[in-house]
Amino acid sequence: MLSLSFFLTFGLVAAETGINAWLRYAPLPSAMSHPTLPASIVALNTSANSPVDTAGLELQKGISSIFGKNLTIASHSSTSASIVVGTVSEYASAYGQSPKTPQLENDGFWLNTTGPSVQILGQNERGALYGAFEYLSMLAQGNFSKVAYASNPAAPVRWVNQWDNLDGSIERGYGGNSIFFTNGLVVNTTDRVSQYARLLASIGINGVVVNNVNANSSLLSPTNVAGLGRLADAFRPYGVQVGISLDFASPTEGLVYGNLSSYDPLDAGVISWWQNVTDTIYRTVPDFAGYLVKADSEGQPGPLTDNRTLADGANLFANALKPHGGILMFRAFVYNDMINETDWKADRANAAVQFFSGLDGKFADNVIIQIKYGPIDFQIREPTSPLFAYLQNTSTAIELEVTQEYLGQQCHLVYLPPLWKTVLDFDLRKNHQPSLVRDIITGKRFNRPLGGSAAVVNVGLNDTWLGSHLSMSNLYAYGRLAWNWAEDPEAILEDWTRLTFSPDPTVIQTITNLSMSSWPAYENYSGNLGIQTLTDILYTHFGPNPASQDGNGWGQWTRADGKTIGMDRTVSNGTGFSGQYPQEIMEMYENITTTPDNLVLWFHHVNYTHQLHSGETVIQHFYNAHYAGAETAQTFPTQWEGLQGKIDAERYNETLFRLTYQAGHSIVWRDAITRFYHNLSGIADSQSRVTHHPWRIEAESMKLEGYMPYTVSPFETASNNTAIVTSSNSTMGTASAVLTFPNGTYDVGVNFYDLLGGQSKFNLNINNDFVGQWTADNVETGRLGHAPSVYLDGHSATRVTFRNVTIKKGDRLEITGTPDGIEPAPLDYVVFLPKGVVD
Ligand SMILES: *[C@@H]1O[C@H](CO)[C@@H](O)[C@H](O)[C@H]1NC(C)=O
Ligand SMILES: *[C@@H]1O[C@H](CO)[C@@H](O)[C@H](O)[C@H]1NC(C)=O
Ligand SMILES: *[C@@H]1O[C@H](CO)[C@@H](O)[C@H](O)[C@H]1NC(C)=O
Ligand SMILES: *[C@@H]1O[C@H](CO)[C@@H](O)[C@H](O)[C@H]1NC(C)=O
Ligand SMILES: *[C@@H]1O[C@H](CO)[C@@H](O)[C@H](O)[C@H]1NC(C)=O
Ligand SMILES: *[C@@H]1O[C@H](CO)[C@@H](O)[C@H](O)[C@H]1NC(C)=O
Ligand SMILES: *[C@@H]1O[C@H](CO)[C@@H](O)[C@H](O)[C@H]1NC(C)=O
Ligand SMILES: *[C@@H]1O[C@H](CO)[C@@H](O)[C@H](O)[C@H]1NC(C)=O
Ligand SMILES: *[C@@H]1O[C@H](CO)[C@@H](O)[C@H](O)[C@H]1NC(C)=O
Ligand SMILES: *[C@@H]1O[C@H](CO)[C@@H](O)[C@H](O)[C@H]1NC(C)=O
Ligand SMILES: *[C@@H]1O[C@H](CO)[C@@H](O)[C@H](O)[C@H]1NC(C)=O
Ligand SMILES: *[C@@H]1O[C@H](CO)[C@@H](O)[C@H](O)[C@H]1NC(C)=O
Repeated sequence: MLSLSFFLTFGLVAAETGINAWLRYAPLPSAMSHPTLPASIVALNTSANSPVDTAGLELQKGISSIFGKNLTIASHSSTSASIVVGTVSEYASAYGQSPKTPQLENDGFWLNTTGPSVQILGQNERGALYGAFEYLSMLAQGNFSKVAYASNPAAPVRWVNQWDNLDGSIERGYGGNSIFFTNGLVVNTTDRVSQYARLLASIGINGVVVNNVNANSSLLSPTNVAGLGRLADAFRPYGVQVGISLDFASPTEGLVYGNLSSYDPLDAGVISWWQNVTDTIYRTVPDFAGYLVKADSEGQPGPLTDNRTLADGANLFANALKPHGGILMFRAFVYNDMINETDWKADRANAAVQFFSGLDGKFADNVIIQIKYGPIDFQIREPTSPLFAYLQNTSTAIELEVTQEYLGQQCHLVYLPPLWKTVLDFDLRKNHQPSLVRDIITGKRFNRPLGGSAAVVNVGLNDTWLGSHLSMSNLYAYGRLAWNWAEDPEAILEDWTRLTFSPDPTVIQTITNLSMSSWPAYENYSGNLGIQTLTDILYTHFGPNPASQDGNGWGQWTRADGKTIGMDRTVSNGTGFSGQYPQEIMEMYENITTTPDNLVLWFHHVNYTHQLHSGETVIQHFYNAHYAGAETAQTFPTQWEGLQGKIDAERYNETLFRLTYQAGHSIVWRDAITRFYHNLSGIADSQSRVTHHPWRIEAESMKLEGYMPYTVSPFETASNNTAIVTSSNSTMGTASAVLTFPNGTYDVGVNFYDLLGGQSKFNLNINNDFVGQWTADNVETGRLGHAPSVYLDGHSATRVTFRNVTIKKGDRLEITGTPDGIEPAPLDYVVFLPKGVVD
């Protein structure tokens, strides 16, 4: 254990942008006793830009940064103590004896720090690099223990997906534009690509699909294939292989290599077209990873057009890749997006198993079916996809999302591994045998040769990569888990915090508290009991809009009416979805008595007054959970403030800004969801909180000059349904009120709307004394990267807070708003919060 005085030696750290993420190699405090490090690095028999070469340079760089000590790098064996990095076989030939390592699997490594020399030996070059990163991670955390162990990955496929478009935008990306593409072309400058490769390699990721699953066939043009060569050259030194997403209809689009009349996967012309394309790519990228295909889904073309099976479609590409050793990832996200809610038995959750029914065993052996963790789409909580149990003679991978599409878009802190673990640790009891999802995807349960995982990451050009410093823990943890799914999310988080911020125990404890409470909090203030996230699924996927979850063709339904809510997915009276699970699981979900509360509305259609195992009714649970979740989020900025001076000011400020935003937006969520269901059910909150806001002054009830009331839609995203907007888009408005609250000191919150397309300015005075000013420019400046809105709604609703404002009864509050662009300085309410009150 490190002493307290050790930490007192930390001063204010220099500003950091976040670009180095967890690979900062911050200097260890001088008070810390260092081990005697070997004086040199031996990178065995390297060629320039090989992973072992990279490993040697990374060790040199890391050790120089952590200890201020410059080690030399040699490429041949040495008799003096050194850090030896290389493959097991190179070690054997260099030192004339095989190292005493246990059997290593592909990409595995051996790390031995027990003797005067350090051995970092990979089964292959990539493994050696992983071992070097592991050793550096120990050193950077001040861990000098003597260890000798082998580490092997859980599965061969540990990939990331990027949903980058060729025009440089990123679908569901919240950290700036693409690092790969611009203006329809692959970028020429690949510095950021190399930096991303380094981050990925440091967490054991070995493949990256660089373009959106909604793919564009012009990526196959000769110019862009040459560009893929540049990307692969940037990834290769880090052992990361490049793959691409394909557009199934490419042969008919005429953008590259002619124009066929069909894309039928059994047509000889189509087969040779794809073989030619594939051979062409491999000529430029000999270690190309393979393809990812989204077919017959959300408007994407696929084999079903020609009455061929999904297996026919997948095998078309698998066969073309096979001679080159490539892999075909085929997404299971296939469903009909025009189903009708009037049909009680219609259910999108049924789609995957139905579409893959009869196809198990029909896929080529280099096909992996890439399955989202739940049957719908990355919701705040879903049951495990039953397709994992259905496919036994086909390799599978789990698809996760690091980018927080439905989970706050990096503007809310949500540490995701605890959510992922609900699925990966789930036992599907196939054939009444233990069948953990993590053992299925790694190939262990059904003896599959391939398998693993893919996470949609969507890093962008922002120096923070994802838009938020704290969200990077999700990327780090994804890699750690893909290597070993049994790891503990909290322990991973502690390592990440030590590496990313500081070894100071206060920093570690605070970030652990925040992160570990973040997913439960977000679930509490968004969608409870398995009802899904309740975000706006038709527009931004960001803020609340529960009504959007019904009446749509997408099949993301809640079936909420005045008396009841939830999807009846039972076999006995519902959609039959529960019957897709192996018997023991089916029986658990079929019966409401054995269905866990947290998924009750996923499987059952119940009265709002239905009593949960917890004893609460469904509706009161909604109310209580939303108030509890928002209350937890209120503590995030104040917890973070305890770290001032313990981390650099730049990251401290940016994070405080986001956590403050989250605290405000959690109130928007809480009020929208509770008021929506309060209005729908007519059932009062037993604690009388919902619609009752004693500390608010509604803008519409203030004295307005140049402002007018505005009815907000959806109604629940404005307090009392109403906001105010300036009477014209060019003249200022003023809203004022005489305060009737008791004399005292308050935090003053103002809820306003921050629309895309204007940067309104606001000024808040009390008795003509300046309290604060702000500009509604979070969207335009990119300070918040979430999907924007051009309306007054749950996405644009924002709170700004001014702390410790002292007022007297009878004081006059005045807000002036100056509109800009399409944004008419919209205001919802002002709230005066006594210490400890959340309203
Ligand atoms: C470390 O040493 C190598 C060669 O021994 C040299 O090329 C390099 O510039 C040195 N780096 C620093 C930071 O001193
Ligand atoms: C660990 O490395 C040292 C060299 O520093 C070597 O003597 C020792 O045998 C190795 N231990 C094992 C278990 O291989
Ligand atoms: C890359 O460089 C080539 C040659 O200068 C140029 O034609 C092309 O437009 C550049 N591509 C991008 C994306 O900047
Ligand atoms: C095969 O690919 C090459 C590019 O490598 C292209 O020039 C040629 O037109 C293609 N041939 C066919 C038959 O598509
Ligand atoms: C596919 O099958 C449907 C129904 O049997 C038929 O109407 C359609 O013409 C077929 N399409 C093709 C491309 O063969
Ligand atoms: C759904 O079905 C109902 C009843 O058959 C029909 O009235 C309605 O138009 C359908 N909705 C859509 C979107 O097709
Ligand atoms: C059974 O299904 C019908 C619709 O077919 C629905 O109206 C009814 O509420 C369901 N019964 C129960 C007990 O859930
Ligand atoms: C539902 O589960 C409860 C508790 O295990 C059991 O008593 C009940 O018989 C089950 N109901 C049905 C229909 O299986
Ligand atoms: C809802 O409550 C009513 C009585 O108020 C009852 O008749 C009905 O069966 C309940 N529905 C469900 C789905 O439990
Ligand atoms: C952080 O924010 C504070 C107050 O908002 C400001 O005074 C300081 O200059 C900021 N520091 C940096 C590095 O942005
Ligand atoms: C709510 O809005 C209505 C008009 O839409 C207004 O009459 C009423 O005073 C408002 N309530 C409060 C508490 O401001
Ligand atoms: C990057 O993100 C920061 C913080 O969220 C933001 O202030 C900045 O504008 C963004 N920069 C770019 C280039 O996207």
